[in-house]
Amino acid sequence: MTIVNNPRPAFSSAEARELLRAHFGIEGELTSLPSERDQNFRVETADGRGFTFKIMNAAEPLSAIEFQTALLRHLEGCDPDLAVPRIVHTTGGQDYALIDGADGRYAVRLVTYLAGCPLAEQTKTPEILHGTGRLLGRLDRALASFGHPGAHRSFDWEIRTAPLSRARLHAVADPEQRRLVESALDIYDSRVAPLLKHLRCGVIHNDANDWNVLVADGRVNGLIDFGDAVHSPIVAELAVACTYAMLDEASPIETAARIVAGYHAEYPLQDAEFTVILHLIMARLAISVTMSAARRLGAAQDPYLFVSEKPAWDLLRKLSVIDHRIATGILRQACGLEAAPGARRIREWLSANRRNLAPLMRPHPARQAKHVLNLGSLDEPLAAASAAQDNDGAERAYAELVREHGFTLGLGPWGERRIIYTAPFFESVLAEGKRRNVHLGLDIFAPAGTEMFTPLAATVVATTINPDPQDYGGLILLEHEPEPGLRFWTLWGHLDHASARERRIGERLEAGALVARLGDYAENGGWVPHIHLQLITVPYEDLSIIPGVGEEAFVPVWEDLYPRPYDFAGLISEAFERSGRTREELIEKRRERLGRNVSMSYRTPLKMVRGEGVWLIDDAGRAYLDCYNNVAHLGHCHPNVVQAIARQAALLNTNTRYLHDTIIDYTDRLAQSLPKELDTFFIVCTGSEANDLALRMARTFTGRNDMLVLDWAYHGHTQALIDISPYKYKRKGGRGRPSFTHELPIPEVYRAPIVGTPEEIGHYYAEEAGRLISGLPSGHAPAAFIAETIPSVAGQVFLPPGYLKSVYASVRAAGGVVIADEVQVGLGRVGDSMWAFEEHGVVPDIVTMGKPIGNGHPLAVVAVRREIAEAFANGMEYFNTFGGNPVSCAAGLAVLETLEQENLLANASEQGAYLLDGMKRLQEKYPAIGDVRGRGLFLGIEIVRDRATKEHAGDPASRISNRAKELGVLMGTDGPHDNVIKLRPPMIFKREHADLLIQILDRSMADVLQ
Ligand SMILES: Cc1ncc(COP(=O)(O)O)c(C=O)c1O
Repeated sequence: MTIVNNPRPAFSSAEARELLRAHFGIEGELTSLPSERDQNFRVETADGRGFTFKIMNAAEPLSAIEFQTALLRHLEGCDPDLAVPRIVHTTGGQDYALIDGADGRYAVRLVTYLAGCPLAEQTKTPEILHGTGRLLGRLDRALASFGHPGAHRSFDWEIRTAPLSRARLHAVADPEQRRLVESALDIYDSRVAPLLKHLRCGVIHNDANDWNVLVADGRVNGLIDFGDAVHSPIVAELAVACTYAMLDEASPIETAARIVAGYHAEYPLQDAEFTVILHLIMARLAISVTMSAARRLGAAQDPYLFVSEKPAWDLLRKLSVIDHRIATGILRQACGLEAAPGARRIREWLSANRRNLAPLMRPHPARQAKHVLNLGSLDEPLAAASAAQDNDGAERAYAELVREHGFTLGLGPWGERRIIYTAPFFESVLAEGKRRNVHLGLDIFAPAGTEMFTPLAATVVATTINPDPQDYGGLILLEHEPEPGLRFWTLWGHLDHASARERRIGERLEAGALVARLGDYAENGGWVPHIHLQLITVPYEDLSIIPGVGEEAFVPVWEDLYPRPYDFAGLISEAFERSGRTREELIEKRRERLGRNVSMSYRTPLKMVRGEGVWLIDDAGRAYLDCYNNVAHLGHCHPNVVQAIARQAALLNTNTRYLHDTIIDYTDRLAQSLPKELDTFFIVCTGSEANDLALRMARTFTGRNDMLVLDWAYHGHTQALIDISPYKYKRKGGRGRPSFTHELPIPEVYRAPIVGTPEEIGHYYAEEAGRLISGLPSGHAPAAFIAETIPSVAGQVFLPPGYLKSVYASVRAAGGVVIADEVQVGLGRVGDSMWAFEEHGVVPDIVTMGKPIGNGHPLAVVAVRREIAEAFANGMEYFNTFGGNPVSCAAGLAVLETLEQENLLANASEQGAYLLDGMKRLQEKYPAIGDVRGRGLFLGIEIVRDRATKEHAGDPASRISNRAKELGVLMGTDGPHDNVIKLRPPMIFKREHADLLIQILDRSMADVLQ
């Protein structure tokens, strides 16, 4: 006879009452309580006290009784408020008494009675389930410091005896039921048993079934019956409690999650413990159902033994089809942990590295025009047709959307609640009556046959063909490990079968390698052609069980197990969700709020929301290659500059009347880049301010007012500068040339009136300038000559050799000073030198700088000879509230440092030369290109009607620029006739960007000119 099959004691109530009186000196009313092996009575005394009187099974060894007693005593000392029974001494001061009965010797014990109803008779509210977990966690925490020889026993309910259930399998008649148990035990043997050896063990209650958990006033009030307490893996405590609580529950894993969360809050579980809970529950069920079956064979009739038999089989059946990764994820998430350990790190890594990944398809999805499809409503024709598996209808609906919205990629977002999954396998196995409808991947719709490439190096883990309707068609699973220990997987679905079959398990794919092509209807499960791309943070060997859609209730779990693959695909959130005002609203609002002459670029203006290096990204997540914005010199949002600004802004920003290091650090560094004569600095905020100040200095120094300028020049927007900017005063709204402004002709080589070498042309223009200067009427001697070293609004005009040297000499001879406006062209843009004037072998008296020097932060500088600065200090204070503030200086310094660290001048030379070559090839192809010119990354393409006549062609130039924008590349036009395509890409421009620029120029020119 074993403890399990020895009959229960069978004392009458009268005998029991007598035993109680004799050994404990207590008299009261006895009511029989249910018990599997022992005989239990509830005792109520006349004075209202309550006890439980227990007559133990005769087969119970004394060591077991002593063990239980010691356990309760330990708890009393360790956690006196814990809601468990407390031992009542016998009249002789013992913890229990031994009595002789008909079948042998029995131990009798009295413990305090805990008020409450068994959980079995209560609704299992979330609070009660959580409370059950808490109580068990608190108990096991207290028991962690407890040990007893009696705890080390092996009996049928100790979880590690689960494999013995196989011996009882003969009692299970139904082959399907046998298979269920066998498979639970197979998993136990192969995966759980080896793991258990490494998990924490300790004494646990081991029987928190819903008859042993007591509830009062809607709260868990006690745990009774320590008869099954045993030394076991601690996590078995939870497995047992969950097993009973889950019976008959519609969403059993959620029920378990509540208990586990309560437990974890008191006594935190370890990662490995989470992974075995589901399997331990199944093992416990295997013990339970085989035990019931065996007992039935033994014809035992006690209904207590069978009460949970049917629900146990049902639960085992339900759990057998649940993915343990998902179950574990739900349990972990309920405890406030990542559903998959490391998921956050994977997400963060992908987010930080998005820009460095190879393109998923060509062109890169970020560059393509995208449209978010709606597969969440039957009102959408595409969704309705897809749900009905009407291929033709779906194709028509998709084509209609493309026509309406003009996109090349349709997007099916992660997390979309969809109505299109109508096949039976979309029913939930986690929650009864629910369906799986939340999309766990990213769909990108593109033509069948589109090639898909892996953004990261990968190993092929599995490939298969799932040919069923609404299934995946060709399917591939890749493993990625971009950093040691950072492992995740990607699932690629709806592929064409031949290309999916080309992949071999174990095959290594480098970043950018072809994965497969998109399948058509016949091969992709009957969908409009698209890729289902899913990120997976937990390992799978079997492709067929990875869910592509999940239940709404578990979205936070899906976020960790199958995170949004947007970064992996190179897409940003704006591609899926626009924020702020629409473009139309903004245009309207600008009309209301801003001056009408605050202009916008392009026929259909763009709303930009992000800048990343060479890319500007619009509100629909489309990335445009920025070849125009020379302010973002180091690329948009260069981290060095962003950090320098943020760091200093967080510390201090104030004006130059206080001493601060940054202004000296910055000007020292700037001085190193300039000829030694230019040793004095004024820091301002805009190019206009710099030029305005330069004029004031020149005028103060010379005592004169007149200015010499190049025709069509632009130097800024203040009145003083409009007066010296022919580009402004000569055009609409301008008041014409003031009498103190004198224009020199633009020394264009391309349109020179003489034929000759550049030197000869330079000489020609210089002579003319000299004549003009010496011929100035009296009283109009120049204070200064101001010129851009490469006139930009005049159409990217490169001054011929010798010209500047000669003009500077003429101006100086006439008593004027020379100002180089390097606001656009300075700071290394020309590649060979830091400042464009250096190429001409001249040293200006004043140099103005702006646009690029703060990489987008408003920063501008006047560098001037000391002598002029001294004259300017004539008693009038120079104060500029913002000029020279520490934040601006920190930004400027970061720009200078980065230019050097990243060797960007050399890069500008290299990429510039490469671009010029490409432009020359275009010139051979398109007769409308009259001239191409450039130095470093400052380039122009002049469009003409006829190469012979050189007649300006402004409209085609603007159409080319607008077409290039439609194709994803930003450029501008300039020049007196707006016929020069102006290119000023960031200094970080790479070969691949140059190739793209040339390719798009080619396409745009083909579209516009041919
Ligand atoms: C050559 C030149 N100088 C000065 C300025 C004026 O600079 P800001 O717009 O910063 O005032 C500009 C602006 O376009 C410019 O191109």
